[in-house]
Amino acid sequence: MTMGGVFGVCGTAIDAPLLGELRISPGALIVVDETGLIAEVLTPGEAAYDARRQSLAAGGALVELSDGEYLLPGLVDLHNHAPQWPQLGKALDVTLAEWLDDYTFPLEARYQDIDFATTVYKSLVDAMLANGTTTAVYFATIHLPATQRLVDICIERGQRALVGRVAMDAPDACPDYYRDVSAAVAVEQTVALIDYIKDHPGNKAGLLSPVVTPRFIPSCSDELLRGLGRVVAESGCHVQTHCSESDWAHAYGLDRHGHSDTTTYRDFGLLTRRTVLAHSNFVSPADLETIAITGAAVAHCPLSNVYFANAVFPTREALDAGVHVGLGTDISGGPSPSLFTAAYNAVAASRVREDGVNANLPAGERGSPASRITFAEAFWMATTGGGIALDLPIGVFAGGYCFDAMIVDTAAPNTDLLIWPELDSPEDIFQKIIHNASRHNVATVWVQGRKVRANRGISPPLA
Ligand code: GUN
Ligand code: FE
Repeated sequence: MTMGGVFGVCGTAIDAPLLGELRISPGALIVVDETGLIAEVLTPGEAAYDARRQSLAAGGALVELSDGEYLLPGLVDLHNHAPQWPQLGKALDVTLAEWLDDYTFPLEARYQDIDFATTVYKSLVDAMLANGTTTAVYFATIHLPATQRLVDICIERGQRALVGRVAMDAPDACPDYYRDVSAAVAVEQTVALIDYIKDHPGNKAGLLSPVVTPRFIPSCSDELLRGLGRVVAESGCHVQTHCSESDWAHAYGLDRHGHSDTTTYRDFGLLTRRTVLAHSNFVSPADLETIAITGAAVAHCPLSNVYFANAVFPTREALDAGVHVGLGTDISGGPSPSLFTAAYNAVAASRVREDGVNANLPAGERGSPASRITFAEAFWMATTGGGIALDLPIGVFAGGYCFDAMIVDTAAPNTDLLIWPELDSPEDIFQKIIHNASRHNVATVWVQGRKVRANRGISPPLA
């Protein structure tokens, strides 16, 4: 479990350094330095390849992938509500407002109880790593001690994470039993979490970062938004929030401020290069331009969009406009912890947008032409795009990037990821991984060079 010295991993690596381009590298030799960064990536035939490989093997420092195993970058979940883990997979037949009032706020209020928080957060972080998610951007709750516990657990388990203490003070949209007592207290506790993470003795390698987290416009007073904007200006911290998610949430923001959520966040100093806007389904072309110019990012959560949002994020248009886009599970607005599931649902959602759904209309009038994205683009969003969104060197196998990676074992027992070597090209295998890889196939996971899972699907985590 220590970072240890130099080691190498050799086998077929699959990554997507450029949007739309899949890179499949048979026999790639990835050399990792003592700080967990990729020192170099060598390919067969290169001058140093054989010697480097032999010396690593002779020193017992080479992981060689077997037939049927593939090395993928760790996945980056840009939007995940850690406290909602116990309600994963339920209550997705109600509206967003009902879901918040009847299920989510009562559940999140329980994190006052630190023992409950500890049990849930351990279970969640282990499950995320088991599914190959090496970086997660977490909303916690309004409770500082429980949020600090989530930080401790990410550090202990070795997950790279950005953690935010949720700020929500508006009596209109937040119940009495689960609300910040004032904007000032929410701001104070936000700063306390930032300090806790920055000064944490277990965070010398910097795997944990704080995120300023206004829940969404309806739940935050202008005073709170202004105060959090000041914290961002002073600290340079990341920001996460929900933006123009559903008809209701979008209309609420328009009505209160007279313009879109994107403009409101910008005006309060909350739209920066390090902002992640969840959903953003109702953004206008002008909003997209604002987001692109700022260098902020959108966390596209396709499954949650389908259940809650009354619309699906215009991913094609956003990518074409140069907006940073990555993927989120939106646990538990989305019912799956797997970012592979989010990736293929992003493709599926884009295809439904393109074709439309009303068979009574002529084909040419049914959908939004040319809105599809490819599997390579979805994989890019799940890896490289997530790294760009967070301004972190993750998601690509290249020198200087963090070695956050997983071995996908297509020969694992009890798998639906079935490969027929005589029928499947490497690109076919990639598409099958996106569609059917599950935690059974995630054999080994590293974060910053540290092996954090060797689970073969079912065993408990190391540590
Ligand atoms: N809007 C405000 N809070 C939430 C939440 O927890 N999940 C989703 N999907 N949307 C929200
Ligand atoms: Fe959300």
